[in-house]
Amino acid sequence: MSKEIVVSGIRSTGFLHIGNYFGAIRNYIKMQEEYNCYFFVADYHSLTTHPDPASLKPNVYRVLAENIACGLDPEKVALYVQSDIPEIPELYLMLNMMAYKGELEKTASFKEKARANPDNVNAGLLTYPTLMSADILIHKGKYVPVGKDQEQHLEMARNFAQRFNHRYGEMFPEPYPFNFGAELVKIPSLDGKGKMSKSENENATLYLSDSDELIRKKVMKAVSGDAPTEPNSVKPDVIENLFLLMKLVSEDDVIAKFESDYNACTIRYGDMKKQLAEDMVSFIAPIREKTIAIQEDKDNLHKIMKIGKEKARESSVRTLEQARKMMGINFYC
Ligand code: TRP
Repeated sequence: MSKEIVVSGIRSTGFLHIGNYFGAIRNYIKMQEEYNCYFFVADYHSLTTHPDPASLKPNVYRVLAENIACGLDPEKVALYVQSDIPEIPELYLMLNMMAYKGELEKTASFKEKARANPDNVNAGLLTYPTLMSADILIHKGKYVPVGKDQEQHLEMARNFAQRFNHRYGEMFPEPYPFNFGAELVKIPSLDGKGKMSKSENENATLYLSDSDELIRKKVMKAVSGDAPTEPNSVKPDVIENLFLLMKLVSEDDVIAKFESDYNACTIRYGDMKKQLAEDMVSFIAPIREKTIAIQEDKDNLHKIMKIGKEKARESSVRTLEQARKMMGINFYC
């Protein structure tokens, strides 16, 4: 039996942090063994906010390098850049004929962005969900590993797929979010306020590009409060968070020691943070160094991008030819 198809887009803006690693990338790495995976950098999507051309390019290289450094294997998956696949914008155009202004305007992400940037409510922003649908449907993707914030977009992709099938004949499977169940962990920020973030809360987020010194500084500044005075007391949220972070990168016996110190009221948060900082450094430093090495070897990076492009175009060309034929846009046969 052939493997089921998984598609996911990676934003080209912002720096990856350990929340992205444990929330998404680690799951990509597991999926690459069992599914036929198409993972790409969504550079067209980033154009909605008119990024500086001089920064777009290094951002795309960096995101690719970071994902490979984390363990994504370009030999196992199709790892490519969205704009390398001309069939995607072509399918996007077709799907736009089936996407209605009213439903696009009602999309939560559109309303949010339009409110935040009222001077830049462009058609690309409005049709962001159609482009995302084209990304998925071009490979006839069945599963899409995304967070909760993308589920509405996926629902729209299912609608567009259905409409196409209804009008022109069975063609696209309906894509569903890939659910990791209990494994989906939310990584808290170091200041006790929400999650780690690509663009906000920079001092409370550990990025995969942070230097050893910066990691130590951020972890030592993490909010902890007073040590417990009652044995076996319930942990306040900020302490729960420190333990959660420790569980990601520290050895079991180290965690057990701090757990029992906590329960005995002998815990010293300074020591705990020092340990967490060192374990974070041991985890992040090799990824950071690998990312730099991959980023600097442009020839190799170009080779990887070309291999990904070829793999992704194979199924894209096939799907688009079929779509054109079904719509009656095939005049030379
Ligand atoms: N919209 C997604 C995000 O913001 C990125 C994305 C673009 C994507 N195209 C996609 C995700 C296709 C999954 C499938 O994170």
